[in-house]
Amino acid sequence: MDVTSIRKDFPQLTRFIRNKPIVYLDSAATSLKPIQVLEKEDEYYKKYCANIFRGIYDISEEATAEYEAVREITKNFFHSNDANEIIFTRNTTESLNLLAYSLYRGYLHKGDEVVSTILEHHSNFVPWQQLSPEYGVVFNYIGVTNEGELDVQSLSKVVTAKTKVFTFTAVSNVSGAIADVYDIVKRVRKISPSCFIIVDAAQAAPHMEIHVSGWGADAVACSSHKMLGPTGIGVLWVSARSSGHLKPFLYGGEMIKAVYKDRSEFKEMPHLFEAGTPHIAGVIGFGKAIEYLEKIGMEKIRRHEVDILSYAFSKFSKYKDITIIGPKDPRKRGGVIAFTVKGIHSHDVAQILNEDNICIRAGNHCAMPFHTALNIPSSARISFYIYTTRDDIDTFFRGIDRVKKVFS
Ligand SMILES: Cc1ncc(COP(=O)(O)O)c(C=O)c1O
Repeated sequence: MDVTSIRKDFPQLTRFIRNKPIVYLDSAATSLKPIQVLEKEDEYYKKYCANIFRGIYDISEEATAEYEAVREITKNFFHSNDANEIIFTRNTTESLNLLAYSLYRGYLHKGDEVVSTILEHHSNFVPWQQLSPEYGVVFNYIGVTNEGELDVQSLSKVVTAKTKVFTFTAVSNVSGAIADVYDIVKRVRKISPSCFIIVDAAQAAPHMEIHVSGWGADAVACSSHKMLGPTGIGVLWVSARSSGHLKPFLYGGEMIKAVYKDRSEFKEMPHLFEAGTPHIAGVIGFGKAIEYLEKIGMEKIRRHEVDILSYAFSKFSKYKDITIIGPKDPRKRGGVIAFTVKGIHSHDVAQILNEDNICIRAGNHCAMPFHTALNIPSSARISFYIYTTRDDIDTFFRGIDRVKKVFS
């Protein structure tokens, strides 16, 4: 993978602040965007800006064709069997909320159980925690091992025959732990065969090849903005066999077949869940992001990530006062490393690094239950993508040395 030429596609990497370049180590929060994606979004606004599905004129048809082509591109990228299984939302958070609201309003009944995990991002924990009591549903979760991985051994104690929804992340945004999705889905199905299984792939989709149909789950959610695409676009894959369990989440234009005074008839998937004018330019730009990733190849992207992880780990090993959260084997984790520095708050670490334009995340990374389970208030986090270099890691460690000097 030619990282030097890849970096030329990312305008933000040429920016200087305080006469210093930017070292962007926060791609798990959002990735940078290549020029190809920005130009494609621009193309819609400049050349065929019209609403989709509605116009009986050329440019509206052109916009519709571009938009729908991305559904096909997305279907192929995630190895779905049918483009109608791809729903465009605003982000992973909306995809997961859509599932939650749709499932509570028909599929879930009083006394049923929803099981999540303690290492989830808030967007895959709070909707279930909040809605369960309203519908008389029991909310439970699986814990983590000392390594910061999902405690799969405890799954058979928490999941029961009454578990109607099981939802978990494929890659943790804190420990980076990669879950064995195939195995977990199998284990859950063995206990509760008709369980609706959801995979949060927000941190997996940008970094590794995903086979949504092969995973055997019922729904998968992710965000365009973490995989080189525009913000404001999410993907929700729902298997055709499971879509009947979902009631509409939003009512309005484009999801309607007919409206009478006393009732309405709705379209099928995916339009049933795409009410209103969507983020047309965003979807079209997202298609370009997928093409960009495909051109490099997901295998190469993953290999680059493991290389950067290994390099960072070898450097971290010299710092006895830094504790890394999650598995120590780079092959078992995604491109994030969250850590704590003894005696220094994560916000102080991030603030001092920022003086050298080193962009990292600090706090609980929207995973407060996970931090509580690990008995730490917060952590600092670096995360990587296709444009990250070993030089970036070296600069980061020079910054860490400065942080330690300031606090010594
Ligand atoms: C694992 C995981 N799930 C869900 C989300 C939410 O993504 P979004 O903010 O795009 O909705 C994130 C964001 O960081 C994440 O890391």
